Amino acid sequence: MFSAQLACLLLASVHLVAANGIDNRITELVNSYSPLLQYPTNFTQGIVPKAIHSHNDYWRQVPLLTAISLGVVSVEADVWLVDGELLVGHEPAALSPVRTFDALYVQPLLEMIAGQNPKSPFTVNQTAPNGVWDTSSDTPVQLLVDMKTDGAETLPFVVKALERLRSAGYLSTVHDTTFTPAPVLVIGTGNTPLAGVVALEPRDVFLDGPLAALNDSHTPTVSPLASTDWETFVGWDGIGEMGDEQRANMTSFINDAHARGIKARFYETPGWPISARNAVWKELLNAGTDFLNADDLEAASNF
Ligand SMILES: *[C@@H]1O[C@H](CO)[C@@H](O)[C@H](O)[C@H]1NC(C)=O
Ligand SMILES: *[C@@H]1O[C@H](CO)[C@@H](O)[C@H](O)[C@H]1NC(C)=O
Ligand SMILES: *[C@@H]1O[C@H](CO)[C@@H](O)[C@H](O)[C@H]1NC(C)=O
Ligand SMILES: *[C@@H]1O[C@H](CO)[C@@H](O)[C@H](O)[C@H]1NC(C)=O
Repeated sequence: MFSAQLACLLLASVHLVAANGIDNRITELVNSYSPLLQYPTNFTQGIVPKAIHSHNDYWRQVPLLTAISLGVVSVEADVWLVDGELLVGHEPAALSPVRTFDALYVQPLLEMIAGQNPKSPFTVNQTAPNGVWDTSSDTPVQLLVDMKTDGAETLPFVVKALERLRSAGYLSTVHDTTFTPAPVLVIGTGNTPLAGVVALEPRDVFLDGPLAALNDSHTPTVSPLASTDWETFVGWDGIGEMGDEQRANMTSFINDAHARGIKARFYETPGWPISARNAVWKELLNAGTDFLNADDLEAASNF
């Protein structure tokens, strides 16, 4: 009896909130599943890409897709070459035979990008494929492949693992020195060898350069991205005032990279306390960093 009354009361208040005529009409239309409200590339409908890097992306409950759902444009997978297979995980104890680079990253990317490129009479003249972002189809997903096993041995397996993305025309590529952007930009980090990347022709696996030690080998067609360890090369913990030398380092690394046409990222930025993490993010954005390195993607996307 009482609960029935309560339910009536609740319904009445819900009704009050949604009493506006236009809100009712919107609810009606949404509930109708009308084809007028659907379109072929709606998989990432309304998601706005943001300059965030998903550190250790494979730790999340659903790798890659969680990041994409929050507009995160860059993800990182640690890969291990084991008996000819590329497995994804932070350390050997975390590996599983089904958690392959192909299953967690290559296949989902293929599927998502294919979905954004429907074959129809409307797309017959389109030459370059759309990327995953419905709101920004020329913004690529940056896939960092952190090679944990020997770089020279692992690189050819990474190149081979990308074949389906390559043959679909979905990989950003350098031919001679001409860069052609595409929906995915693959960048090797960790043990990825400079010489091995330089030798690739065409090149569709690039190198994460050393942000604090760039030289003339690190051109944007080899290293479109450079990264370094915030703790070692800047060192501010985000508490109190940032030191002059700390700020000078941060600024000069970012400016040096940009002068070379290379994007800049710092890792090992403080994660806690939250106020310190945010203070560092704010300094980095003001200084022109190209990616916020984040463990908490929701916090970064709401920053
Ligand atoms: C997206 O559109 C397709 C039809 O093209 C439809 O089947 C699907 O339900 C739509 N998804 C959403 C979230 O509207
Ligand atoms: C494709 O290009 C042809 C030739 O220019 C043109 O006649 C046709 O209308 C175009 N189709 C679309 C969907 O834009
Ligand atoms: C640039 O630095 C890399 C190490 O990151 C080194 O292997 C390479 O030889 C250097 N190249 C030049 C031209 O100094
Ligand atoms: C600034 O960077 C240099 C290397 O370029 C490094 O030796 C020095 O320790 C850094 N300073 C701070 C405060 O981290």
